[in-house]
Amino acid sequence: MKVLIVGSGGREHAIAASVAKSSKVDKIFCAPGNAGIGQIAECVDIAAMEFDKLADFAEEKAIDLTIIGMDDPLVGGIVDVFEKRGLRVFGPRKNAAIIEGSKAFSKDLMKKYGIPTAAYKNFTDAEEALAYLETAKMPIVLKADGLALGKGVLICHTREEADAGVRTLMLDKQFGDAGNEIVIEEFMTGREVSVLCYCDGTHIKPMTSAQDHKRAKDGDQGLNTGGMGTFSPSPFYTKEIQKFCEENVYQPTMDAMKAEGRDFVGILFVGLMLTEDGPKVLEYNARFGDPEAQVVLPRMKNDIIDVMNACIDGRLDEVDLQFEDNAAVCVVLASDGYPEHYEKGKVITGFENFEGKDGYYVFHAGTKLTEEGIVTNGGRVLGITAKGRDLKEARANAYAATELIQFENKYMRNDIGRAIDEA
Ligand code: AMP
Ligand code: GLY
Repeated sequence: MKVLIVGSGGREHAIAASVAKSSKVDKIFCAPGNAGIGQIAECVDIAAMEFDKLADFAEEKAIDLTIIGMDDPLVGGIVDVFEKRGLRVFGPRKNAAIIEGSKAFSKDLMKKYGIPTAAYKNFTDAEEALAYLETAKMPIVLKADGLALGKGVLICHTREEADAGVRTLMLDKQFGDAGNEIVIEEFMTGREVSVLCYCDGTHIKPMTSAQDHKRAKDGDQGLNTGGMGTFSPSPFYTKEIQKFCEENVYQPTMDAMKAEGRDFVGILFVGLMLTEDGPKVLEYNARFGDPEAQVVLPRMKNDIIDVMNACIDGRLDEVDLQFEDNAAVCVVLASDGYPEHYEKGKVITGFENFEGKDGYYVFHAGTKLTEEGIVTNGGRVLGITAKGRDLKEARANAYAATELIQFENKYMRNDIGRAIDEA
């Protein structure tokens, strides 16, 4: 069969690598893709938001399955466009992707259906938000309602910071229309865990857990980024916590979406905080995490096409989802200066060191193939994933592997997986 993947980051490279392992797949296309994806798929120069062009391409090439990796097209309704044209596609429809597209929607959903999350209030009026802050307890969290590349969340320690945050989001519109509405939420503390789940509208099957590192600098300092590294599984996500989440979070979320007439088919990413009062939902996403996919998918034993087909056909209950009994760590190699100002176009060397190395992966995020070779083309450049028998071995392997790749302004965090030592 022929598969089209929509997206261009490390996550889409990890999806493409999983799809390439399927015995059912003869040909992979990726729109728009990147230099690494181009080694296992044919990259197509169509942007992820060009829904009609993508659907035309899928029709022309008789694509059997299109997988949407990114949030923007999902929230924008790409799945509806494909389905209307009779094209098979994996991902939630627009009315279900809203669970990521609107934080106000997801908070109201959790409240209505009793799913554990931080206390909150939604605001569409800046004056009302400022008035609310007068008596609110600090620290407090402000969230832009819409998509903001993971950057629309402000943790405010003082009333002044919070007031300024409301102005930034709602009046200065730093994130555009994403800030037309904001969520003001109770500040929680605890360990964070990401659990990605396959969903068929009725059934939900959680994958192995992972933990991201969102801040740019060691010790969780610096600005929020798309994610600087991950490890899987999380040693803090115990069997008891998993059972609690299955009973109180995952299935209730599926049921809530169904009750609202918004059957969720695709990947539901549940961001959890393990608080003293039990696990609480930080956020939902409607797609694989990036760089969570880079540590979760390499450990999955199932044929990804079988699982995705079962989701689309509403028979996920028949799937026995299995993961390897090992661990994986992904260290992101970024351009120095990310997520603010950084230079692109630096030649990357050392890829040949990974040839034939089992259990190692170089997932491309921001790269481009030029006459000079593969060059950097973004803030997050590569994700170096390595497996190990346990987390410590995987971490040692991943950091050793980061030495095999060179480019001029290479930057990484040196403490990905530090939490492993506290487990
Ligand atoms: P989100 O995009 O909602 O996951 O938020 C991004 C990051 O902000 C999370 O990964 C947390 O580290 C932090 N965060 C979000 N909400 C809260 C909260 N209520 N309390 C403490 N930290 C939070
Ligand atoms: N790594 C977090 C995300 O994909 O949203």
